[in-house]
Formats: sequence, C-alpha cells, structure tokens
Amino acid sequence: MKKSLIAVSISFALLNVSGVVQAAGDINAGQGKSGSCTSCHGEKGNSAMPLFPKLAAQNEGYLVKQMQAFKDGSRNNSSMSAMVAGFSDQDMQDIAAFYAAQTVTENAAPQLNPDDLDDIDDNNQLTEAEKEDARQALQKQHDDLMSMGYDVYRNGDLDNEISACIACHGPEGEGNEPASFPALKGQHADYLVKSLSDYKTGARSNNADNMMHMIAKKMSEDEIKAMSLYISTMK
Ligand code: HEC
Ligand code: HEC
Repeated sequence: MKKSLIAVSISFALLNVSGVVQAAGDINAGQGKSGSCTSCHGEKGNSAMPLFPKLAAQNEGYLVKQMQAFKDGSRNNSSMSAMVAGFSDQDMQDIAAFYAAQTVTENAAPQLNPDDLDDIDDNNQLTEAEKEDARQALQKQHDDLMSMGYDVYRNGDLDNEISACIACHGPEGEGNEPASFPALKGQHADYLVKSLSDYKTGARSNNADNMMHMIAKKMSEDEIKAMSLYISTMK
C-alpha cells in the first residue's frame, strides 16, 4: 500500500514537471484565436466535413509544425495558407494547445458505399437472389478491407516492405507527442485517403526525412482505403 502511494506521488511529480516544460501554449488564448477555424474544423476541432481534418486531441507539436508548413508553403493548401499567414509562433502554440486539449469524437461505423447498393437495387436485370449475392459480395469486400487495415496497422506488410503504423502512431492511434508523430484515431476516412495519396504522389512532401512518402509510395490503392477505413474506427 505504502509502496503504491509513493509510486503515485512520483508519477504526479513527473507529470507536473513535464507539464511546466511543455506548457508553451495558452489554451484560453488559443480558443480565442481559433474563431476563424470553426467553420471548417468544427467548434472544438471536430469537423463535420469528411475532407476537413479533425484537430481535436491532435498532438501539439504536430499541429504547430503543420501550421508553420502551411505558412511557409512547404505544405500546399491555399485556404490553409491564407488562414495562418498572419500568425506568430505564439499564436500557433496557443491554438495547438487549445485543440490538443479537446476530445476527438468517434465516427459513425463506416457504411458500404450507398451508390454501389443503389446500383444493385436499380439493376433490373438481376433477380432478387442475384441482388442478395451482389450485396453480400460487397459486404465481404468491405470486411476484407477492414481486416487488412487492422492487420497492416499492427504488423505492417512484409511483402511490400511497409512498416507497421503502430510503431509510430501508437497502439490506439494516439500518436507520439514527444516525437510529434500525429494522432490518427477518429480521423475522417476521406481525409486519411487524401493524406496517404498525397504522401504517395509527393504532393505532401514536408514530412521529416520523407518518412510517410517512403511508406505510402509502397501502398496500393486498396491498402490506402483499408488503412483509412480501419483508422477512422479507432477510438
Ligand atoms: C475553408 C476551410 C478551412 C478553414 C477556415 C481552416 N482550415 Fe485548416 N484545413 C482545411 C483543410 C481542407 C485542411 C486539409 C488540407 C490538406 O488536404 O492537406 C486543413 C488542415 C489543417 C491542419 C492540418 C491537420 C492535419 O491533421 O495535418 C491544421 C493544423 C489546420 N488546418 C489548422 C487550422 C486553423 C488553426 C484554422 C483557423 C485559424 C484553420 N485550419 C482554418 C480547411 C480549413
Ligand atoms: C517511422 C514512423 C512512422 C510510421 C511507421 C508510420 N508513420 Fe504515419 N506519420 C509519421 C509522421 C512523422 C507523420 C507526420 C508527417 C508530416 O509532418 O507530414 C505521419 C503522418 C501520417 C498521416 C497524416 C496525418 C494527418 O493528420 O494528416 C497519416 C494518415 C499516416 N501517417 C498514416 C500512417 C499509416 C497508415 C502507417 C502504416 C502503414 C504509418 N502512418 C506509419 C510517422 C510514421
């Protein structure tokens, strides 16, 4: 009993120390400075639009780095560059501290593509039984992508020399704050597909040591879809 109390107080002390060292940003100031971001990224960093990334619970160092990259043009997105053009380093740190302190929302369970289902429903040349087979084939495709995502996240893909995502993005997709590796859990699948595709083509090239480009360039379209679907369900 005594032992565990000591352990608790030591870890509190450590928490306090690291809290002081890292508290470069001011959460309240950040909230005030983030007013112009809510139309796209949501009230507390949980955007409703699938191509606008969620910022809630994202790691502070990563957020600052991306804002700097939009500002200096090393990450390309004209609306984002305009948004951060007038920001000082302190503004970015405050905003990052605000978003990092929020809670990321869970996504609804991913659905089969409704257009594909409509195509099956509307196909008059199929009998009811054939339609049911087609729906089941679609469901299987979806389930296969989800299990591929689960597997590659944990184990990587040895055949194609793709590293396991878990090593840098954490067992629960929480990222790695000291290393500024981003959190991924709860992110929108569509945004993840866009990010991975941008790393693959080199359209997004500000990543340190080209780490994500080296990984994404070996990923197939199916693998990108699988990773994105699976990661969007992590919580
Ligand atoms: C008009 C819509 C819009 C507004 C307003 C906007 N953003 Fe963005 N933001 C985007 C889009 C779109 C992206 C993704 C860009 C891409 O595809 O690479 C993005 C990306 C980001 C990222 C990178 C996230 C990641 O996971 O890599 C950060 C950080 C960010 N925005 C911060 C802000 C801040 C801070 C503000 C307010 C000052 C803001 N944004 C306002 C649309 C917007
Ligand atoms: C060696 C470490 C490492 C490994 C392994 C790794 N990543 Fe990353 N990942 C990073 C870093 C660092 C970044 C941020 C790069 C930047 O600044 O753009 C990143 C960024 C990302 C992003 C963009 C996040 C955002 O908010 O825009 C996605 C998506 C991603 N990684 C997915 C994956 C997937 C999927 C895997 C496994 C197949 C993987 N990563 C493996 C280090 C890694």
